[in-house]
Amino acid sequence: MELSVVIPTFNERENIAPLLARLEAALIGVVWQAIYVDDNSADGTAAVVKAIAARDPRILCLHRVGRRGLAGAVLEGVMASPAPFVAVIDADLQHDETILPRMLQAVRDGADLAIGSRYLTPEGASQGLSPVRQAGSRLAAGLAKFILRADVTDPVSGFFLIRRERVEAVVGQLSDQGFKILFDIIASQPAPLKIAEIPYAFAERQAGASKLDGRVVLDYLGLILSKFSRGVLPPRFLLFALVGLSGVLVHLAALYAGWSFGLRFDAAQIIAAMTAMTTNFICNNLITYRDRRLRGWRLLSGYVRFCALCGLGLIANLAIADLVHRWTPAWGVAGLAGALFGAAWNYVSTSLAVW
Ligand code: GDD
Ligand code: MN
Repeated sequence: MELSVVIPTFNERENIAPLLARLEAALIGVVWQAIYVDDNSADGTAAVVKAIAARDPRILCLHRVGRRGLAGAVLEGVMASPAPFVAVIDADLQHDETILPRMLQAVRDGADLAIGSRYLTPEGASQGLSPVRQAGSRLAAGLAKFILRADVTDPVSGFFLIRRERVEAVVGQLSDQGFKILFDIIASQPAPLKIAEIPYAFAERQAGASKLDGRVVLDYLGLILSKFSRGVLPPRFLLFALVGLSGVLVHLAALYAGWSFGLRFDAAQIIAAMTAMTTNFICNNLITYRDRRLRGWRLLSGYVRFCALCGLGLIANLAIADLVHRWTPAWGVAGLAGALFGAAWNYVSTSLAVW
């Protein structure tokens, strides 16, 4: 077995048979297998794959239950492979499988990684992406290139072929969330990879819908920030900080409402703080910790812990600000020091004790 083709799927039932037929045609002469990784799609994608697998032992379906995430699915597929080389391709026929033999040859010839790139030709992305997504995708690629200091045109491609050992060597450091798995693999290497890029035209999606949403974009920016800080800031911190900022707006809005309602200022301030803490908890549960979302009773007990820890964070914030203020009359410096310490405390303590 020379090549495993890992295919992550989420609601792709219509695309299973056509992609396999295309892979079959493209990989004549190669000993290959397909590893589908399905996150229990509601449309029955896994059942479709298993029906084909029952007749063809080269097809495998990893059927994950209770988990979601493209990066994690890809990693699980790669780790299940016995082959020296692993390709990753989207299930939705947007990637051009006919370049797989050239990608394979590049790695056989000594490259560690071959990337299918949409940006080596001017029209590579114009069919499959809307103008807005094209601009966003180019920006994402540019940022990644800057952080990686590597000369790659499409470091966020979902289409690549890599030596399996290069993934296994760094698998413990990779994030299992979002769409930036390739970027993460490149960024986590101890020594630079030998990379080959091969152009293709990103096709229009045939059936089903894209799963790339706002959360995926924020998640990606969080990872960029984390790499930029050389790992000092965790990838989730950006989301947590943005939720915190939204809390400030909620606080001011609630304060204004309570105040115009005729409440006393301190009463309005307390209600505003409680409101902001509650919306922060809800948003973090829905967005920052989407993959570990609390439900039912655990939601309630998590809320109580969150409020208690943020209350401690507030006390620490005040104490630090007061300490710094004794050293320097600059109130801005003292206030910022307190706020930053409070935010860091809130992040670390709630990530350990709430989610
Ligand atoms: N198992 C699993 N779990 N598969 C998933 C999940 C998930 O949570 N989310 C998406 N997928 C699968 C889809 O079924 C599809 O086969 C592939 O991953 C890509 O998802 P799309 O939703 O089609 O992504 P896209 O076409 O909008 O995004 C493309 O461009 C991105 C960068 O610009 C893809 O090529 C991405 O891989 C790429 O990162
Ligand atoms: Mn797609």
